[in-house]
Amino acid sequence: VRTRVAIVGAGPAGLFLSHLLHLSGIESVVIDQRSREQIETTIRAGILEHGTVAAFEATGASTRVKTVGNQHDGIELRFDGEGHRIDFADLVGRSVWLYPQHEALKDLIAVRLEQGQDLRFGVTALRVEDEASDQPRIIAEDADGEPLEIVADVVVGADGSRSVVRKAVSGTHSGFFREYPFAWFGILCEAPPSADELIYSNSPDGFALISQRSATVQRMYFQCAPDTDPQSYSEAQLWDALQLRVPGTTLTEGPIFQRDVLRFRSFVADEVRKNRVALIGDAAHTVPPTGAKGMNLAIADVIVLERALRALLLENDERLIEQFPETVLRRIWKAQHFSWWMTSMLHADENATDFDRRRQVGELRSVVESRAGSTYLAEAYTGWPIDV
Ligand code: DHB
Repeated sequence: VRTRVAIVGAGPAGLFLSHLLHLSGIESVVIDQRSREQIETTIRAGILEHGTVAAFEATGASTRVKTVGNQHDGIELRFDGEGHRIDFADLVGRSVWLYPQHEALKDLIAVRLEQGQDLRFGVTALRVEDEASDQPRIIAEDADGEPLEIVADVVVGADGSRSVVRKAVSGTHSGFFREYPFAWFGILCEAPPSADELIYSNSPDGFALISQRSATVQRMYFQCAPDTDPQSYSEAQLWDALQLRVPGTTLTEGPIFQRDVLRFRSFVADEVRKNRVALIGDAAHTVPPTGAKGMNLAIADVIVLERALRALLLENDERLIEQFPETVLRRIWKAQHFSWWMTSMLHADENATDFDRRRQVGELRSVVESRAGSTYLAEAYTGWPIDV
């Protein structure tokens, strides 16, 4: 197969990139080792930044975000038994939208297939070859083990945190990491929302996040040990664990129909581009989930990369692709800081001293009692402007 841009990974980053390229008249091929059904049913992130929604709407990538999704004008930070609203609309005049990632993926896949674009499921990328040349290649195989080779002008790795493409880009240094001594236990339940807005709760027993999916399905998380077996809790124990961590709110319970333990870390690859191979989304960086930056950061990468590819492939101008790492890394490191900060401010660390615990409450108080502090949180959460 010969194409202009070969994209590994049909997640939000890969699919949105191929969509933007198509609008610019640049042909691409997207492959993913998963099936369409797997991609469309895996429960992932839930919050879209202001700019992500604007980008989806402006390009026709989603017609449902504002009908199926829900606008949220603020969040609640809860600590010391009390809730404090961070009013995004008042502080920064912007909001976010709760729209599950798999719904965004359904939209993007439908748009792509409607337009007769080349999107192949069940195709596993094995490696990138000729990465130093102007014609890099993806060596892959389909679900039956049949070999497939894609020759392109540019190869893009949008293939997640276990990226295969990354091997062709990274130098000898494998990147920048931070591990956390905890994970999230996530559930989906059939119940009405327990609160109007998301609750991020710091409690002596650990963090909890009360999120939502729809009027009838809710998503909730609580801090757990990374090696927790999701089956080790009964439903009653799960409700006790959640309820204990949000004192002051009575959760509306309902049947729990999905449970998972999410381990996480902070990571930035040492290189995000080499010649004509580039990394976007989780292949380039992962953030802990607190603060919902992951998918939004991926979409920001895409917007910057697409503009650079347009200049390169339509005008033979290499300047923007040369600047791509510097441009995206500024935002990536700001998002790394924000995600690390929200994570460390809200979770209970079992190695923390009494000083650390009281300092953490002092930090939360500094945020909610200061307009400047709250405004920083609101700016970061709703999303910094995309710099293109
Ligand atoms: C969700 C996940 C997050 O990490 C977050 O900060 C907010 C919401 C969610 O899955 O709903």
